[in-house]
Amino acid sequence: MAATTKIALSTLAIAVLGPYCYDRYLALSTIVRNRPGHYEPINIFKGHEIKFRDTHDFRNCEDLLLSEVRGVAILSCDPGRDRWNTVMGTFRPDENLTSGSLWLYDYTSTELGSNDSIKQLAFNDFPHEGDFHPIGMDLDKETSILYVVNHAQSGSCIETFRLEANTLIDIKTITHPLLHAPNSIESVGDGSLYVTNDHMFRSRVSPVLSKFETFSGLPGGTIVHIDLNRTEGAQVVARVPFANGIARLNSTTLAVASSSKPGLYLYGMQLDHSLNFKGMFRTPAAVDNLSVDSEGTLLMAGHPSALELMKISKGRPLCSPNSDSEAERIACDCTAPSWAAQWSEEKGLETLFQGSYFCSSSTMVRDVKRGISLISGLYERGIMVINE
Ligand SMILES: *[C@@H]1O[C@H](CO)[C@@H](O)[C@H](O)[C@H]1NC(C)=O
Ligand SMILES: *[C@@H]1O[C@H](CO)[C@@H](O)[C@H](O)[C@H]1NC(C)=O
Ligand SMILES: *[C@@H]1O[C@H](CO)[C@@H](O)[C@H](O)[C@H]1NC(C)=O
Ligand SMILES: *[C@@H]1O[C@H](CO)[C@@H](O)[C@H](O)[C@H]1NC(C)=O
Repeated sequence: MAATTKIALSTLAIAVLGPYCYDRYLALSTIVRNRPGHYEPINIFKGHEIKFRDTHDFRNCEDLLLSEVRGVAILSCDPGRDRWNTVMGTFRPDENLTSGSLWLYDYTSTELGSNDSIKQLAFNDFPHEGDFHPIGMDLDKETSILYVVNHAQSGSCIETFRLEANTLIDIKTITHPLLHAPNSIESVGDGSLYVTNDHMFRSRVSPVLSKFETFSGLPGGTIVHIDLNRTEGAQVVARVPFANGIARLNSTTLAVASSSKPGLYLYGMQLDHSLNFKGMFRTPAAVDNLSVDSEGTLLMAGHPSALELMKISKGRPLCSPNSDSEAERIACDCTAPSWAAQWSEEKGLETLFQGSYFCSSSTMVRDVKRGISLISGLYERGIMVINE
């Protein structure tokens, strides 16, 4: 090859790959900067406490949502995540794989140090009760219909329930070819949902390609709009690398977290449910889930150290909290740091909390009027209760 051709080709390669390499450099340098022991704790809360650390099976809580009118939080928790995590790629079920459950926490009487209580929501006639591995969920407050992503062993699906007092009445299970790796749900009313699929390559089908997709930052994740009254009209409305949490910022804007970019994508919602991309900003941690408080501030929680999180998910299948074996008890430890932040157009991105006090933060919610915020932890025991 002539020297000039070579130069031309490498210039072209740099022109094409340069921005991509720079993009990955930014993502990977975040991982390096946040490596264990180099992570500076930040905490601007007035007071905080971890509650219900020792409540049996109240651990591995991914999602968290508030019903401020009732003053309750609903949490989706799954001790079985230790052995079965379709997002992180842990597939070690045995015949005793524990099912997950949804919990109700009445936080109206919460004072730090008080003995408030949580209870498990009961199911009424739910065929998947023994194969329930809940992650993302959303409540349609008008109808009290709760949508829950279930990473069931029999296949991922969306469960719909009616929430009546402390009982979940099963309505139906929804599966759809476009919901191959469902993660989070945002209900926009009347059975109309935006759902994220975190990956194109599911770790259940191809662990290697799935990891490659995560680290390459390829936009394999999707946002799907589906109307449950007309599922045949479901369509992919955007593609996002490792699409994770999704939340409506206001009547026109949808926010979606990317855990691999890592960053936040903003979209305008059209009447026909298509999305138009409005912008993206980067975050110093892999954003997991999103929520929006009553003043329109976006709250996010996530994982500053992807490597620490992977280490935990890898060791967890061994975990047995009451075992005689020290190795099995240690496997239950949770050491991955947390990160929580808020964003608004006026004030930009502000970190509220980071550090290892609470492990593997996945969702933060805030009741503005009562001045209480809550953070759940993907592999943590209990819940972090905050006075702001
Ligand atoms: C499942 O539970 C039963 C009863 O506790 C126990 O005998 C069995 O060894 C367990 N199986 C595994 C694979 O842990
Ligand atoms: C995250 O939160 C949103 C809204 O608060 C919810 O709709 C979604 O399902 C959640 N997803 C996950 C995976 O936590
Ligand atoms: C869609 O289905 C829900 C129940 O799943 C029902 O309450 C609602 O009225 C339906 N909406 C329309 C527009 O048909
Ligand atoms: C919704 O939020 C976006 C982003 O903060 C903002 O640009 C837009 O003006 C808001 N729209 C409404 C109707 O409040």
